[in-house]
Amino acid sequence: MEFLDLPQLLSAAGTVRLPGSKSISNRVLLLAALADGETEVRDLLASDDTSRMLEALQALGVGVTALGQEAWLIKGCGGKFPVRQAELFLGNAGTAFRPLTAALALAGGDYVLKGVARMHERPIGDLVDGLRQLGADVTYLGNEGYPPLHLKPASIRPEGAVKVRGDVSSQFLTGLLMALPLLGETVAVDVVGELISKPYIEITLATMARFGVVVEREGWQRFTVRAGSRYVSPGTVYVEGDASSASYFLALGAIGGGPLRVEGVGRDSIQGDVKFAEALAAMGAEIEMGPNWMEARAPQGGLLAVDLDCNHIPDAAMTLATTALFAKGVTTLRNIASWRVKETDRIAAMAAELRKLGAEVEEGEDYLRVTPVTRLASPPEGIDTYDDHRMAMCFSLAAFATPLRINDPKCVAKTFPDYFERFASVTRAAPVIAIDGPSASGKGSVAARVATELGFSYLDSGALYRLTALAARRAEVDWADEAGVAAIAAELDVEFIGEDILLGGIAVGDAIRTEEMSAGASKVAALPTVREALLFRQRVFNAAPGLVGDGRDMGSVVFPQAVLKVFLTASAEVRADRRYKQLINKGFSANLPDLLADLRQRDERDSQRSVAPLRQEADARLLDTSALTIEEAVRQVLDWTAEAMK
Ligand code: DC
Repeated sequence: MEFLDLPQLLSAAGTVRLPGSKSISNRVLLLAALADGETEVRDLLASDDTSRMLEALQALGVGVTALGQEAWLIKGCGGKFPVRQAELFLGNAGTAFRPLTAALALAGGDYVLKGVARMHERPIGDLVDGLRQLGADVTYLGNEGYPPLHLKPASIRPEGAVKVRGDVSSQFLTGLLMALPLLGETVAVDVVGELISKPYIEITLATMARFGVVVEREGWQRFTVRAGSRYVSPGTVYVEGDASSASYFLALGAIGGGPLRVEGVGRDSIQGDVKFAEALAAMGAEIEMGPNWMEARAPQGGLLAVDLDCNHIPDAAMTLATTALFAKGVTTLRNIASWRVKETDRIAAMAAELRKLGAEVEEGEDYLRVTPVTRLASPPEGIDTYDDHRMAMCFSLAAFATPLRINDPKCVAKTFPDYFERFASVTRAAPVIAIDGPSASGKGSVAARVATELGFSYLDSGALYRLTALAARRAEVDWADEAGVAAIAAELDVEFIGEDILLGGIAVGDAIRTEEMSAGASKVAALPTVREALLFRQRVFNAAPGLVGDGRDMGSVVFPQAVLKVFLTASAEVRADRRYKQLINKGFSANLPDLLADLRQRDERDSQRSVAPLRQEADARLLDTSALTIEEAVRQVLDWTAEAMK
């Protein structure tokens, strides 16, 4: 599985221009396709969900032309799709599936609508029931009440008001409303049950109005589309920035200091999720707003927990669940039952992953309660994202507490393909100083002293390979048995406490420093799966306030983002001599020519292996210590560090 390892974050500030809103993008595309005339859609969101809609419209014979820079020209078909028979694949895009179902069922034609497996678990029965009341011919091809669907031509006869349930997903009402102008007659829709996610209906009504259809509304109960309503292209439409996507950056500012500004949505937005800013303000964050921007800063005394009805901001409210990790007190998010029928069961998923971090979570049918802990633990297996873009984005916030592994991070492509690049551009992570070099070059002593001078933690990555070799030897696993050694590396029960290294709770002392373990470490370090198993163990050291790591691949593989990379070396003779003195001082017997030969052999193996070979990276600075004292070498690294962190 692909993963992304995030270092611990120290702060967040800056400006992000948001990608287009998913909800508005897909509504605008469909209405532009149904309208009379051509529409130029600007700032369209480039994502999986909008790609599914564009592909579907093309398959239906609608003229779709990319104009570049997220602008598209849509040739409206005046309510009649040119292709009357088609099979459409809509992925996991609810904002494409529901409205297209309604439009195609009422427009007439023979269509099959399918999606990914999860789409087939998301209910659509309430919408189908509404369409059937109008005479539409819809059959379930799988389970009753769920996609895939088969739509066939039928005579549509609007009689009286259509009843549709509004308490499972507001997208059913949205789909129906957007399709009704195709009938050309007056039709009323009565909502049964309490309508949820009302702000999404507001987006629907505002977008329909932009295309010339005004829906009459009586409270949130009855909606009427009048005879003679027709969609007409407004010419050019600019899609607002995505207010749900804004939530992650506002939260970053509220947790990580700020000011963090998002551009593309603000006070004048038609998206309900801008109200997320109010929820954040209720947690104490300082919020400022302009017509099309918002900005968040952390409050003086830290964030406070809230108890909030989140029905009006179902998507953005997920961001509150991980923000709650940084708030004083117990946060309760209420009235969020719709989370259970989204990309995944979001209540269950959120609860499971928050618990992995150590938070205390109570989960109800329609609520979530989060109690933060002072020290969050980073699960070695990573945070799972359930093919849900919002899970991945929400959990990126947890990196303020601990370095973190996010599994399948590319799921963000559903709505925000370059989320993590933007995230990196406005956050500052705990810095790493990477010191690589051959055995006995003195990098360990230099790295440890630099760490002490800076008040950073220190990672002796070679020790992990030595411990793996030792643990394999104790378990009688051969150093050449890759799977066996990798399993040991993955399970290594190791703790670094000050200068001591504990294996299975017992200090190993010099048992990992013998020549035999040096050779063993070099052998197991050449095994790719062993290196993989030790990767995240090393990355969790990338915590506040900073880290000095020494090894062979600190700068190339483990911490490629290091602020300073040093390749620290010395001639083989000098290194053999240093090692000799070290061993003699510790009371071991040693032979200089043998040491030199062993060292050369290990250099050869470490630099010739196929994975993460020892070599000076192009961006690493060379420090030859053959003629330097440790103090001189430390001074040089500290000078370089000061320069790099300026
Ligand atoms: O730095 P050291 O001598 O303690 O390292 C022991 C062995 O582990 C060495 O032969 C190479 C390997 N190693 C590695 O491959 N990658 C690292 N980052 C650190 C050590």
